[in-house]
Amino acid sequence: MATTACTAPPGRSQRVVEVDLVAAPGTAMLRGSGQPAVDVWSYGGAVPGPQIRAVQGSRLRVNFENRLPAETTVHWHGMRVPHAMDGVPHLTQAPVPPGGRFRYEFDLPDAGTYWYHSHSRSSEQVERGLYGSIVVEEQRPLPVDRELTWVLDDWRLARDGRISGDFAQPHDVAHAGRIGNVVTVNGQVPGDVRVRRGERLRLRLVNAANARIFGLQFDGHRSLVVAIDGQPVAPHEPDRNTVVLAPGMRVDLVLDAMGRPGERHAVGDVFYPRAAYDLLRLAYDEGAVREKALPRPEAIAPNPLPDPDLAAAQLHELRFEGGMHGGLHQAMLDGRSVPFMSLLRSGKAWAVNGTVADSHVHEPVLTLRRGRSYRLGFVNDTRWHHPMHLHGHSLRVLSRNGVPTRHREWQDTVLLAPDERAEVAFVADNPGDWMLHCHVLEHQDGGMMAVVRVA
Ligand code: C2O
Ligand code: CU
Repeated sequence: MATTACTAPPGRSQRVVEVDLVAAPGTAMLRGSGQPAVDVWSYGGAVPGPQIRAVQGSRLRVNFENRLPAETTVHWHGMRVPHAMDGVPHLTQAPVPPGGRFRYEFDLPDAGTYWYHSHSRSSEQVERGLYGSIVVEEQRPLPVDRELTWVLDDWRLARDGRISGDFAQPHDVAHAGRIGNVVTVNGQVPGDVRVRRGERLRLRLVNAANARIFGLQFDGHRSLVVAIDGQPVAPHEPDRNTVVLAPGMRVDLVLDAMGRPGERHAVGDVFYPRAAYDLLRLAYDEGAVREKALPRPEAIAPNPLPDPDLAAAQLHELRFEGGMHGGLHQAMLDGRSVPFMSLLRSGKAWAVNGTVADSHVHEPVLTLRRGRSYRLGFVNDTRWHHPMHLHGHSLRVLSRNGVPTRHREWQDTVLLAPDERAEVAFVADNPGDWMLHCHVLEHQDGGMMAVVRVA
């Protein structure tokens, strides 16, 4: 929990939080104690890796060591870090070889819920378990009785109980990505979560799955969204009573547990309606924390994000195309125009403004002037959902299909439904070459990435 307020500018008085982080092969009890352990790759010997906590305004130093049999990097998803600390192999740093080390160090200007994960062959390494959550505490935290973090993931386990080795296989790449057959919360198939009547919980939700989108319903409870992708919003009921969480996204909820002792209330996942299921149950213990519900929570203080100047902002369109049942016939790959069928044979399926990326490093799709405001039109010209993620910045989501958004949301991962167009705006204030990609990691592998240059 936060102890002292730390408002000092970077300098000698700034608090430094230092963490050692080791990536290594290990095992995890995904399905509980009765079932065999699963071989995973993890941080700090656990899936998820250790939660990193620090107070807003402090500086984080992570001494990273790679004990994996493969090169890797660590990316700080959603955090506005300097380019050299962003953890994208070949684009922002050399990959850390097996046995190698790297020190990540950066300031934490923004409070909120974030996460870290491998950015090296991520469709394999994140699937194997290389991820963890980050909490940057507000200087004045929201008063709650208890805080819980739920890192959601799914796993595709083969019949022998191991993680199925078919990473980035062509069918997943060209369709919805790798949807698993075992869903975990904090690395375990969830059982009941014990709550008490009257308790106010802050739930920090993180979706670390490669491809599964969650649509959570907290029936019988008042749940209010207080932050999306780490950035505070005016507290509001989830749209259509469902908290939608695409890969890469985070949502902070304030949940008032007003059930009665002995009751059990399901938390359902209804995103894929024909495959709806109960994720877990909130089970009420005896006794009550309070009998009357608390008043609505106040909004969390906003982070110091620069407000884009919408009148002056230049508009650029980014068109996402491809996948099965789409209209992509031809796209540029390695400077050649390639028919869709041949793309599929080389494990690619997606294009950004007509170009298929086959590595993290390529010609920028956009070059933006540092300090200027921009509007981006994200156009999903496919039959599939895509959570589009920009590194190094947070994006103010202005509208979806021309309808203005209502909660003043800032996001780093913007979910686009099939045929949806979202408009976002931001100040390009963080210099460097930044990844823009789909966070369905199989789509990223399949070419759905680009570089946005801020210079
Ligand atoms: Cu969370 Cu480029 O990713
Ligand atoms: Cu995608």
